[in-house]
Amino acid sequence: MSSKFPDHFLWGGAVAANQVEGAYQTDGKGLSTSDLQPQGIFGAITPRVDGDSGIKDVAIDFYHRYPQDIALFAEMGFKCLRTSIAWTRIFPQGDEDVPNEAGLAFYDQLFDEMAKYGIQPLITLSHYEMPYGLVKNYGGWGNRKTIEFFERYARTVFERYKHKVKHWLTFNEINMSLHAPFTGVGLKDDSNKSEIYQAIHHQLVASAKAVKACHDIVPGGKIGNMLLGGILYPLSCKPEDVLETQRQNRDWLFFGDVQARGGYPAYMQRFFRENNIQVEITAEDRQTLRETVDFISFSYYMSGCVTTDEQQNNTARANILNMVPNPHLASSEWGWQIDPVGLRYLLNVLYDRYQKPLFIVENGLGAKDRIEADGSINDDYRINYLNDHLVQVAEAIDDGVEVMGYTSWGPIDLVSASKAEMSKRYGFIYVDRDDTGKGSLERRRKKSFYWYRDVIQSNGNSLKDKA
Ligand code: BG6
Repeated sequence: MSSKFPDHFLWGGAVAANQVEGAYQTDGKGLSTSDLQPQGIFGAITPRVDGDSGIKDVAIDFYHRYPQDIALFAEMGFKCLRTSIAWTRIFPQGDEDVPNEAGLAFYDQLFDEMAKYGIQPLITLSHYEMPYGLVKNYGGWGNRKTIEFFERYARTVFERYKHKVKHWLTFNEINMSLHAPFTGVGLKDDSNKSEIYQAIHHQLVASAKAVKACHDIVPGGKIGNMLLGGILYPLSCKPEDVLETQRQNRDWLFFGDVQARGGYPAYMQRFFRENNIQVEITAEDRQTLRETVDFISFSYYMSGCVTTDEQQNNTARANILNMVPNPHLASSEWGWQIDPVGLRYLLNVLYDRYQKPLFIVENGLGAKDRIEADGSINDDYRINYLNDHLVQVAEAIDDGVEVMGYTSWGPIDLVSASKAEMSKRYGFIYVDRDDTGKGSLERRRKKSFYWYRDVIQSNGNSLKDKA
C-alpha cells in the first residue's frame, strides 16, 4: 500500500520498567507496589521476605542487558522507545527529600545508549507501580500528600533529563484504577467507590501538576496522558443498549476529558450523585486541572460490547476487562477479541473529541511462540495482527486524524502485566525464559523482527491491505 504515514512518524516499541528491568533491589531501589504482586496486576498482594519471589524480580534483566537490546531495536530502525522510570529507583520510599543518585544515573546511561542510535525516548512517569512506602505509610493516592511526592519526583526527573527526553506520559492506563485499585492508586482492591474516585482525583491533580512542571522545565517538551482505550460497541441497535454503551464508554473517557479538556465533565455530577460518591475537589484543584496535556496517548488491544439484556450479560465474558464478546470477532489465545477496524474507529472517536494529536503507545498480540528445529520462530499470527492494525492506522490518518507515532507493545518478550507470565509473548525478539523463571535469557530474532524492520524502513509502504 502507498504510505499515509507522515515523514516524522515515530515508529517503535513500548515496554515498562517493572516488566523488563528486574534488578528489583539493585543500586538502592525501593520496593514498589509491583514488587508485591508476583502474580500480576490482579494478583494477591504478597508481603516480601528476603530473596526473590517472583518472575518480575529478574524479568528479562533489561537493567543489565539494555545495551544489547537497544542495539536490536536500532537494527529494526526504531525511531522511538517507550519505557517507564521506576519511581522507586529515584525515591525508594517515595517521601525522601533527596533522590537516589544511582537510580538517576541508570536512566542517564539508558537514554545515552538510545541517543547513540537516534532513538527518541518516550517516558512514562508511572507505569503500574508506585513506591510501596507511600502505600504503607500514607495510604497511597488516597492521601492528598501523595500529590506532593509525585510532583517532587516528576520535577526531579524533568530537571535531570530535560535535554535527553522530550516526550513524556504521566500515568499508564490511568482508567485501570477502576478495575485494579491497588495497581492504579495503591488502595485495597475492596475499597469503596468514594475512596477510589478520591484517589483518582488526587492522581488527576498530580497529572496536571506534572504537565505544568514539564512545560516549565523541559525546553520543547511535550507531555501526554495515557488511556486504556477499551472502546465498547452496543451489542444491538436497541436504543437502551446504545445509551448504556455511551454511559460505559464515559467510564474511561472521563479520564481523558479531565486531562485534555481541563475539568470534570458535566455527566460526572449525575454519576457521582446517583452512585452516592463523595469526592473532595477544592477550588485550587479545579485551577490546577486546567493545565491540559499536549497529546493523547492510549493502548489498544481489543474492543468489547455492551448489552442491557440480562441473559446475554450473564454469558461468558472475555478479556482483561471482562467485556461482553462481539460475535463478529475472533479472539487471541487469552480471549482478547481482535478488532483492527476498532482501532480506526477509536482514533476517530478520540480525535473528534479532543482535537489533539494522538499517539498509539501500546498495541500487539500476546501469543505462545514455537522455536523450530532450525532455530527460527515463524510468528505469522503476530505479523498479521500488527499488519491489519497498522493498515487501519493508515486509514485513520487518511480520515484526517493526527497520529504522532506507534509503539507496539513488548517489542522484546517481557513479563505480562495481567498474570505475570513469560509465555504470553508480544516480542519481535524472543527471550529464553519460561513461566517458572528457567532459561538462559538469550535473545533471538523472530520472523516479525524482519517484517517490522521493513515496515519502518518503508514508512508503512510494505504493509498489505487485507485481501
Ligand atoms: C497494558 C499495560 O494493559 O497491556 C501493559 O499497560 C501490559 O503493562 C499490556 O503488559 C498487555 O497486557 P498483558 O497482561 O498481556 O501483559
